[in-house]
Amino acid sequence: MFPQHIIARKRDGHALTRDEIQAFVRGATDGSWADYQLSALLMAIFLRGMTPEETAHYTDAMMRSGIVADLSSVPGIKVDKHSTGGVGDKVSILLAPMVVACGVPVPMISGRGLGHSGGTLDKLESIPGFRTDLSLDAYRAQVARIGCALIGQTKDLAPSDKKLYALRDVTATVECIPLICGSILSKKLAEGIDALVLDVKFGRGAFMKTKAEARKLAEALVAVGKAGGKQVRALLTAMDQPLGRTVGNALEVAESIACLRGDGPADLMEVTYALGAHMLILGGVAKTEAEAKTKLHRVVADGSALDKLREIVAAQGGDVRAIDNPSRLPQAKFQTPLPSPRAGFVRDVDAMGVALGALRLGAGRARADDKIDPAVGVSGITKIGERVAAGAPLCVIHASDEKSLAEAKAMLAGAFLVGESPVVAPSLIAETIA
Ligand code: URA
Repeated sequence: MFPQHIIARKRDGHALTRDEIQAFVRGATDGSWADYQLSALLMAIFLRGMTPEETAHYTDAMMRSGIVADLSSVPGIKVDKHSTGGVGDKVSILLAPMVVACGVPVPMISGRGLGHSGGTLDKLESIPGFRTDLSLDAYRAQVARIGCALIGQTKDLAPSDKKLYALRDVTATVECIPLICGSILSKKLAEGIDALVLDVKFGRGAFMKTKAEARKLAEALVAVGKAGGKQVRALLTAMDQPLGRTVGNALEVAESIACLRGDGPADLMEVTYALGAHMLILGGVAKTEAEAKTKLHRVVADGSALDKLREIVAAQGGDVRAIDNPSRLPQAKFQTPLPSPRAGFVRDVDAMGVALGALRLGAGRARADDKIDPAVGVSGITKIGERVAAGAPLCVIHASDEKSLAEAKAMLAGAFLVGESPVVAPSLIAETIA
């Protein structure tokens, strides 16, 4: 089966067979296809699309390009959550211990931040000593022992995605639903899970800018996940303003700890409880959303979710004292409020503007090999609809040097809009797709 024949068939608008798709994915994994051939087929798929059946074959071939973790010896229905990425999205850090404390095992393999969106691994690594590079054996053993492991992608899991994602990144073929489905789901299905809850975000700070695009992606992800034999549900959630009140790695860990102490911001808790409720239902420990939410509230109120976070941090080499005393997390040299130019109501907080300000401070990466500064970022972010006094802080900027502080301050000032008339806070959860 020559690559050029497969490329020509897709170029001419035909659906590829399972064998052709497997040859393509094998070619990406073992290097037998040249980068220009892989790129040509990626572009043909981008332009011509894939049928649901092709997308399912593609995802399956990607998943099988490496090891598929076997967690069948771990009792219970294993459920993970995946977010398509947003600004201030630290949900996994509080959600995983909450769900595990309710009795559902959560094996979670997360990514790093790139561009404007943060990554759970970078956030967790701001806890001194916390290791995310566990082997698959250590991952399996930890899930069996304490119900959860929060680790990074290993080289053995869906290796074809690493190659194909790098090519998509430089050939303008990222924004393509079948390719996104294969990329996200191959990694998630290789974790050894039984069920998955997806948080598909839409809006200015998200990958998908409109609800309609997010719905299309969510429907495709749910269908392909089901074709792979998993139970999958997706929530569509708005990502126009940052989630919660912090953006930046250590700051987001501190906010997650506050949430588990019962002191979380309303929007972050709303999304976390909604995703958690679906995880408990799929995990078989609750029948209805109301029952699931009651259980989730209980593990926050009685401290067992926070205890579970301590257990996970200890198991992965992290300094548990930082959980009890978040001032032990990395702290930035400068902490400067951004004053409101007038009294009134916050009309807008542009998630992308805040993310770019945080990126300028060093909280994220413009390129995959950039180093991040765990201490910097933005805290105390006011939310749309809140009343502010003239000169009161719209947020607090955490910076390690005066130059980045001054530049980020100017950028962040442009992200907030304060007006005279009251504004209704926008709703967050738009739809559930099951
Ligand atoms: N995240 C992924 O892992 N892959 C994509 O293709 C897009 C987002």
